[in-house]
Amino acid sequence: MIPDSFIQELLGRVDICDVVERYVPLKKAGANFSACCPFHSEKTPSFTVSPSKQFYHCFGCGAHGTAIGFLMQHAGVGFIDAVEDLATSVGLKVPQEEWHAQAQEKRERVAPLTELMASAMNYYREQLKVSPSAVAYLKKRGLTGEIAAKFGLGYAPDGWQNLQQIFPDYNNPALVECGLVIVNEQGRRYDRFRDRVMFPIQDGRGNVIGFGGRVMGNDEPKYLNSPETPLFIKGSELYGLPQARRAIRDEDMVLVVEGYMDVVGLAQWGVENVVATLGTAATESNVQKLLKQASRVVFCFDRDAAGDRAAWRAMEVSLSFLADNKVVEILQMPGNQDPDEFIREHGKDAFVNHTRNATRLSEFLLRELSKQANTNTIEGRALLVHLAKPLLQKVSAPILRVQLTKEIAARAQISQAEVEAKCELKPLARWGAAPPRSARRPTARSVEYQLLKLLVRTPTLAARLPHGLIDKDLPEGAALQAIVDAVEHGLQLGNGLAMAMEYFRGSAHESVLSSMAEALLEADDDHSQDEAAFVATVSHLQGAAMNREISALVERARHGLNAEERTKLSELLAKKAAISAAAATATAGLGGSLV
Ligand code: UTP
Ligand code: MN
Repeated sequence: MIPDSFIQELLGRVDICDVVERYVPLKKAGANFSACCPFHSEKTPSFTVSPSKQFYHCFGCGAHGTAIGFLMQHAGVGFIDAVEDLATSVGLKVPQEEWHAQAQEKRERVAPLTELMASAMNYYREQLKVSPSAVAYLKKRGLTGEIAAKFGLGYAPDGWQNLQQIFPDYNNPALVECGLVIVNEQGRRYDRFRDRVMFPIQDGRGNVIGFGGRVMGNDEPKYLNSPETPLFIKGSELYGLPQARRAIRDEDMVLVVEGYMDVVGLAQWGVENVVATLGTAATESNVQKLLKQASRVVFCFDRDAAGDRAAWRAMEVSLSFLADNKVVEILQMPGNQDPDEFIREHGKDAFVNHTRNATRLSEFLLRELSKQANTNTIEGRALLVHLAKPLLQKVSAPILRVQLTKEIAARAQISQAEVEAKCELKPLARWGAAPPRSARRPTARSVEYQLLKLLVRTPTLAARLPHGLIDKDLPEGAALQAIVDAVEHGLQLGNGLAMAMEYFRGSAHESVLSSMAEALLEADDDHSQDEAAFVATVSHLQGAAMNREISALVERARHGLNAEERTKLSELLAKKAAISAAAATATAGLGGSLV
């Protein structure tokens, strides 16, 4: 874990405007900056970045976050990578634990390899421009120059050491390490890719990490790929991800195909939310990545034995990552066509229509199991439960698991409880535990919400919040208390909301804090009234607490109060009078509008 104090320091040094500007040109708009949102399509800018509050918010799609969050969302990198990237940009060094130091070392080691790959891509692209036969090949496959450019397609000319032209130090071992150059047993070096159309493979940030090279004729192998290198770990990458990211978000759906050409071919026809696995079956890391970006993932497979195996594998892998609000589907292409061939023959509409025929994962599972187990026989029904066991055990979505279990039970003609017992299904912790979403939404009008808002605007107030007044049953009350506790334990809120958002990243309080982004952006940067508003709000809370105590005593007074209670009551009444006088003065000074 990276210490919170470091995150505080980092957020204090980084300017979110610089970070966003790396990817999105910003225009000044009053105290803030605005742009067309990079996370959804729009014509008028509703994406706002606040330099004073150090966070961004899109009034259109609701995307929001800190500088760290922006990198995670935009570049699709993990928290640690985002922190690492920002730290480097402001000359800070992330405090390191052992595994972390190793990751850092790796990053430093692969950086020069990434540069070599980028140069190679540029070289191949230049070569494509002067190779009529390669251009003709791509044209014949229906691609325009625009799409070729979007995917950085290129051409590796025939010849053994063409790369020498751009890498004068052709003996540099890094060229071998990144897979561009091969050394044979005699120690002779030569280019891996020769006379092939080149498909650069990029990671989520757009770094070139590998290549797939296709022959233009019928030679074997059809595609030659970069080997696994420190840059290129096939199971965790997806071809086409940086190009597809925006469309995936817009459609909230991603299509996973098998081939490079399928991604490029579909994009040519305007179907852009498409990525491909890299010649391997879908991996856990693939599925996890995809389900983070869209709520519907459709795996598309050719209709052959290999496609069927891959579909089964995709199902197995997806089961563990499903949530009840996410959908994974399996789509089989009709006939013997792959998606690229299909769309070229039938056009975009037919293809999009066909994707609607995709089979839900649960249906696919039941269908495939039924093929293997004939439930007309007792043995077949037993086999069904036997085959279902490892699959059901994988399902983590509670409601889906119940549904599947019921269905299997019905087909096996035994009870749901028996299937659960025979399949050794452990109870899922979250089942039934979470209260309905609406009940957990913060109420913008509650005093706790107002206080929380004041506190993230002017964090110094946190230390002065009296104990025991906050209603911790409200989500905003719980968040408020958590902040106060954290401040007592040394959390420096610095810029306020940005820091609080990072501190509570991944916790139950995250969504309450996020819900404030919009209101805070619209509020002005003049904090001079916050102090008075805070005092008034606190006395309001104190007043409310006192009122509750008074009511309780008054209630009891019907049956008579003892001497002690009588003193207490008159003390409380006197205090109440004093406080409401003070509060009246304070609110009058503020025009009475802040609480
Ligand atoms: P396909 O044979 O379906 O390729 O293999 P494709 O993308 O449709 O290519 P075209 O249309 O014939 O040009 C699917 C994927 O399997 C991997 C590649 O990643 C390819 O995109 N593959 C295939 C290889 O790595 N090597 C091969 O020789 C063949
Ligand atoms: Mn194809």
